[in-house]
Amino acid sequence: MQATSPARPRPASNFELYSWFFMRISAIVLFVLAVFHLVYMHLVIGLDAITFEVIAERWQSAGWRLFDLFLLVFGWIHGANGMRVVLDDYIHPQGWKVFVKSILYVVTFVLIVLGAYIIFTFRM
Ligand code: HEM
Repeated sequence: MQATSPARPRPASNFELYSWFFMRISAIVLFVLAVFHLVYMHLVIGLDAITFEVIAERWQSAGWRLFDLFLLVFGWIHGANGMRVVLDDYIHPQGWKVFVKSILYVVTFVLIVLGAYIIFTFRM
């Protein structure tokens, strides 16, 4: 008789699969955004020259606001989703897992909404 391995239980949803793909796609997006951010802020503008006026001037352009929004959203969702997996791996008591992950989701949500609000409503 042919030896068979027990069937792996089917996951209830495809969430983890989509999450896996999201981490790879957001990594590529972040790589482009973060390297551009680094080169522009550090080399083109220069750290000493970054002032409130420089950023306010930059936000006169819708393109820069959009760029900063993407960096905010992709950075937070990529980072928070990565942390979700790390917490799942390292925190075993169910209650602590729910507690710590809830804090992560609330902080992520509040900072994305707050950041987006500022990016959209800022006026000189
Ligand atoms: C150049 C930008 C970045 C690239 C190319 C990148 C790439 C990646 C990739 C490919 C993974 C998946 C690893 C895996 O599933 O085994 C990952 C995981 C992760 N990333 Fe990023 N990332 C970037 C920026 C960031 C930033 C800005 C943060 C924080 C806000 C962050 C936080 C995390 C965390 C917490 C994980 C989960 C680590 C783990 O599973 O061990 N990453 N990153």
